[in-house]
Amino acid sequence: MIKKIFITGAAGFIGSHLSERIFSEFKNSKIVLYDKITYAANIKYIKNLLLNKNIKFVKNDLLNFKTLEKYLSNTDLAINVAAESHVDNSFGNSLIFTKTNTLGTHCFLEACRKQGVNKIIHVSTDEVYGENLGKHYNEKQILNPTNPYSASKAAADMIVNSYNHSYNLNVITVRANNIFGIRQFPEKLISKSIYSFLNKKKMTIHGNGSSKRYYLSVEDFCEGIIKIIRKGKPGEIYNISSEKYYKILKIVKLITKHLQIDFKKNIIFIKDRPFNDKIYKINSDKLKKLGWKQTKQLDEELPKLCEWYKKNLILFK
Ligand SMILES: NC(=O)c1ccc[n+]([C@@H]2O[C@H](COP(=O)([O-])OP(=O)(O)OC[C@H]3O[C@@H](n4cnc5c(N)ncnc54)[C@H](O)[C@@H]3O)[C@@H](O)[C@H]2O)c1
Repeated sequence: MIKKIFITGAAGFIGSHLSERIFSEFKNSKIVLYDKITYAANIKYIKNLLLNKNIKFVKNDLLNFKTLEKYLSNTDLAINVAAESHVDNSFGNSLIFTKTNTLGTHCFLEACRKQGVNKIIHVSTDEVYGENLGKHYNEKQILNPTNPYSASKAAADMIVNSYNHSYNLNVITVRANNIFGIRQFPEKLISKSIYSFLNKKKMTIHGNGSSKRYYLSVEDFCEGIIKIIRKGKPGEIYNISSEKYYKILKIVKLITKHLQIDFKKNIIFIKDRPFNDKIYKINSDKLKKLGWKQTKQLDEELPKLCEWYKKNLILFK
């Protein structure tokens, strides 16, 4: 029986969706939602959840070990979603990435260990494997991060690995493709494109826009986490991936089509990132064995997504 659940990064994009999904799955559990509320978060995303008497919100930092320890007491399941998540920012100020993503995850794990949490899920990313032009990687692939964001996440994955071995902690790591959905702060490709166009601004494209990315819906991601909570093996790693990839330029084109604006007139090409992985290819064969499958495709979901941003522009002003 899962009596108490603790979720970090709960007021961010993925964290808010996951908190809702966890609540619908474990209706009788007490849930602590923990978030520092950075620029990427919005407390409004979880305001309906907070109406429930079983749910408590704690505004605090992952680096605040004492507070983590306090709220992790008697927890059965802890999920670490909090992170600095935007690659572009990591080229400018990478130290905050290492602080939150690496040291913050270490604080989280240590607090879980001290409080005897018996099931822990750490949300990582496909980017820890680095660029991959060959066959799809499985979870055994050696990590080869190429930017400060993915390096900070890979370092956290290594600490998870050490805690599983040294302390026999039950930490499951999840590495997903890019995720799309409502509530994403308008800094990443899809949300930024929609937001820019709705504000009559041009969208900037790194390099020639030929990089490719796999996109998974936040709902499919959350279902993957539920399967892992229910059936995942202690200490394992699970990839969550989409079947379809898109060229960056193609995604922006699809968005202009849905918003009925001219593609060429509304984009500007800018200098590429210092290093821009061409594609990340991972497979979810292991997760599929737990019964998970992808149900949503980006191109079919884009119209709904555009509509949500149209109605909710005010959230980002
Ligand atoms: N968005 C994607 O495409 C994607 C893909 C794969 C993996 N991930 C991983 O999923 C997780 C969530 O990503 P997201 O897109 O929801 O990010 P996000 O930036 O939207 O949200 C991050 C959340 O973490 C909180 N946070 C940041 N620093 C904190 C700190 N020091 N203490 C407490 N809370 C803090 C923020 O306030 C925010 O609510 C991250 O670990 C990211 O690496 C994201």
